[in-house]
Amino acid sequence: MEGFREASNFGLGQAADTAAFHVKGASSLGWGMKDRLSRIFNPATGRTVMLAFDHGFIMGPTSGLERIDLNIVPLVQYADCLMCTRGILQTSIPANMNKPVCLRSDAGSTILTELNRNVLIDIEDVIRLNASAMAVMFSAGDGDQEAVTAANLARAADLGNRYGIPVMGVTAVGKQMARDARYFALASRVCAENGASIVKTYYCEGFEKIAASCPVPVVIAGGKKLPEKEALELCYNAVSDGAAGVDMGRNVFQSDAPAAMIQAVHAVVHDGLTAAQGYEMYCDLKG
Ligand code: R5P
Repeated sequence: MEGFREASNFGLGQAADTAAFHVKGASSLGWGMKDRLSRIFNPATGRTVMLAFDHGFIMGPTSGLERIDLNIVPLVQYADCLMCTRGILQTSIPANMNKPVCLRSDAGSTILTELNRNVLIDIEDVIRLNASAMAVMFSAGDGDQEAVTAANLARAADLGNRYGIPVMGVTAVGKQMARDARYFALASRVCAENGASIVKTYYCEGFEKIAASCPVPVVIAGGKKLPEKEALELCYNAVSDGAAGVDMGRNVFQSDAPAAMIQAVHAVVHDGLTAAQGYEMYCDLKG
């Protein structure tokens, strides 16, 4: 004990901080889960801008994703999180960019056929790639695929719980399916009930009910390319109605000015810009 400096700074009279965790529904999760969720959801705002470019796994080289090195790598710096497949991550995203990854962790058919027999990738690969979350589709209301995708989601949640890796449930939209708040609220809630810590769904009228009835954060997909002003209105309306951010692809990488667009989306999601202010920012940056 010689030279041992005695402990004296116990902060007596100062209560330990027991403030709730900044991610909805995550207060009771373990440290690893929380650490990974904190990489995705900014602790200051509780929100995220995920850049989605996993489209190639069902669509092949779609517009704006012909060359990941040229189209996507320059945008990585502006995203809070990357959503992509393992193939694109390990071939085309430099590991020293140090961005959290929501790894597309299921695989199935392409747009050339109907949804079929979706499967999960190995959890070892998810760990090896240091993913911060696993994205897994759930296809509610699809007679052939509902049970298969629910089983995938539940299995992914089991594996994620084992290793502290959260799952993002991705609500599918098949050709026959409704696209209203009632449907998306059901699909989102089922994802959370099966263990998802994040849900990705679509914005629609009545979205506030989807977000309110889902016990974990809901992020919205952008969907098909819209004019930039409308896409920023979509982002603004979504976060105003309770979304915890966006998981946006085509409305960023198919924009006339993708770097300007993702910065404007980021400002609407995190900095409280209105859609009009976001559009003004987009035009300024584009100019
Ligand atoms: C679709 O299967 C993918 O999960 C996309 O990542 C998702 O739809 C988001 O991309 P977008 O904003 O282009 O809809």
